[in-house]
Amino acid sequence: MAGTIGDGKPAGKYVGKAVDRVDGHLKVTGAATYAAEHTIDNQLYGVVIQSTIAKGTITKMDTSEAEKLPGVKALITPFNAQKLSSKKTPSGRTLLLLQDKQVKHSRQNIGIVVADTWENACHAAELVKVTYKQSEPQVEIEKHSTYEKLNSTASETGSSESASGHKRGNFDRAFASADYKIDQVYSTPMENHNPMEPFAVVASWEGEHLTLYDTTQAVFATRKTVAETFDIAESHVRVISPFVGGGFGSKLSTWSHVILAAMAARKVNAPVKVVLGRTQMYGPVGFRPKTIQRLRLAASKDGKLTAIRHDNINETSHFEDYVEASTHTTSRLYACPNLVTTQNQVALDIGTPTWMRAPGEAPGSFALESALDELAYELKIDPLELRLRNYPEKDPDSGLPWSSNSIRECYKVGAETFGWHKRKLEPKSMKSGKHLLGYGMAAATYPTYRMAASAQLTILANGTALLQAGSQDIGTGTYTIMSQVAADTLALSIEKIKIELGDSTLPRTPLSGGSMTAASVGSAVQEAAQQAINSLIKIAIADQASPLYQANVDSIVAKDEGLYLANSSKGEKFTEIIKRANLKQVVAKAESRPGKEDEKYSMHSYGAIFAEVQIDPDFARPKLTRLVGAYGAGKILNLKTARNQMFGGMTFGIGMALMEHTLIDPKFGRIMNADLAEYHMPVNADIPNMEVIFVDEVDQHINPLGAKGIGEISITGVAAAIANAVYHATGKRVRDLPITIDKVM
Ligand code: MOS
Repeated sequence: MAGTIGDGKPAGKYVGKAVDRVDGHLKVTGAATYAAEHTIDNQLYGVVIQSTIAKGTITKMDTSEAEKLPGVKALITPFNAQKLSSKKTPSGRTLLLLQDKQVKHSRQNIGIVVADTWENACHAAELVKVTYKQSEPQVEIEKHSTYEKLNSTASETGSSESASGHKRGNFDRAFASADYKIDQVYSTPMENHNPMEPFAVVASWEGEHLTLYDTTQAVFATRKTVAETFDIAESHVRVISPFVGGGFGSKLSTWSHVILAAMAARKVNAPVKVVLGRTQMYGPVGFRPKTIQRLRLAASKDGKLTAIRHDNINETSHFEDYVEASTHTTSRLYACPNLVTTQNQVALDIGTPTWMRAPGEAPGSFALESALDELAYELKIDPLELRLRNYPEKDPDSGLPWSSNSIRECYKVGAETFGWHKRKLEPKSMKSGKHLLGYGMAAATYPTYRMAASAQLTILANGTALLQAGSQDIGTGTYTIMSQVAADTLALSIEKIKIELGDSTLPRTPLSGGSMTAASVGSAVQEAAQQAINSLIKIAIADQASPLYQANVDSIVAKDEGLYLANSSKGEKFTEIIKRANLKQVVAKAESRPGKEDEKYSMHSYGAIFAEVQIDPDFARPKLTRLVGAYGAGKILNLKTARNQMFGGMTFGIGMALMEHTLIDPKFGRIMNADLAEYHMPVNADIPNMEVIFVDEVDQHINPLGAKGIGEISITGVAAAIANAVYHATGKRVRDLPITIDKVM
């Protein structure tokens, strides 16, 4: 049998190497087709109309001026929209679909205009006059009783019904009797996703069949939501998403504009294309909610944690509970006998928040890892040393052994690369010229997920292979790593693999989220390729004309584009076997699903991040000058796309630490910085010298490929490392992101 890629042996020809993107040429030449670039005959353009208030009722929508414009085909509003009467509540987000006249958040989609050109549709949308009965919105989490409770000294703040969390030991007793403790509140702001590719969809009906060219991280979930919303069979909906220009969690959900596009297409009896403008994405397509987190830590004199309590509240909408699970990994990162974590939500007059890269872990690690840093100063122990002293030998929560855990290796390699030993313990004790110099670090962890996935592999008579799976490539390199896995399993050159992804008519795969695509889809691709080989082996050993006639199955391996006896040149090319059998192709479809490994092992990725900041004392501007991330994430399938993805996530973390912040007007509930001029994100000039290191980590238990996934851990811990460096440089502890000049002064 061909060797398994993830069995701890050195990689094949492609897996584990820095392989160029197989879709690289398509992307740089503009030949990769994104959702908005699909154009169908007779297609019209839809433009959504959004509310200018955050709360109230629409009393009138005057469309008369708009209707007079040439080219306008339809104006759909809550006053004339198709009634959607699903038998059951559609899965996915709770969508506001023009079914009533309520306005529940600012920039809610309250109508859609369809016209012959995009310009005419935009013009018409501007001419629609909306009259509202306005109510005062509540958009401040701090005005809610849940926030007051978080700050009260009564310990059991989070034991309400809605609180979800963990508990072990006796936190109250341990915290009360501790010699060293920290009790602080940290906050992270609302942040909006800004993928380079905006949301876009082309909806096209043929009778009762709907085709959507969409930009999505989940073609199958979109198909389900859309089918349920229109009460049609899933088999009548096809979702196509060959290229996605970033999603970061926002494109995991099907949002209202997708349904509105399909409603409009049905009404005008023609395909309709809807593209959201950048500003239109600040409201109806999710965002990372604001979190407020209270952290209590206690330790003995020798730096052993004795108690941890992490209470998190996040904002959500009035029509859906979204949990930002900030406390999710707190129970597992450190050994500590007494622990409580709670999570609560506060409903406000805002859109529904959604997952944004490392949802939970990104804001949660800012609070936990800042608090650890504060504790280190209390104890006068190096922050890295404090973490080492609290390494958990097994999962403190479940008691299960780690499938693998190389966080200590990450600390070591990261610290060496960064030069952590040069750090002086006291804040404000290091300088670079006239600048204050600060070193900070943080730990990171993210669970390894895997879901059932399938893939189909066809070996053709000409010796090439076609690999097909529904899964989306959201820019992370899925086309490339799946081609690598197939090429190595088949012993084919990667140029001979043709790959198709991003279509709900292809084999079923999970959503591209939770950093699980490599593990889930990769395992299915490997299995399908192996089954294709097995079929060829069967044909060959039964064929008298084959050099492998009657050979022992277990002695046959795939190599050099064919089947050969191990350690022998006896064998033949795939093409020979297929040709002699008079076949056009050999097809294998496989499903791969996780086993019971998660009952035996606790499975997570780990990382250590080191940041250097320099601050001009006259201006207090925190300037990040170096960032080093060392990660243990199992088998790294492609060093080039992986490094690229880590850089992206670390950059995301820099934005979170220093810039990103969605600002809402507290009186009107309107987002005030809803564009890229006012919503600051890092650009090249903001990004310092960055280094990514993957430590060698072999995980035999996790999945057939041994890959843990890397997408989300890349942002985790970055904001804390930077905040800790800012404190080290200045002695100023900033507990509220982003760390802007006014907070450092
Ligand atoms: Mo990730 S937030 O699951 O796209």
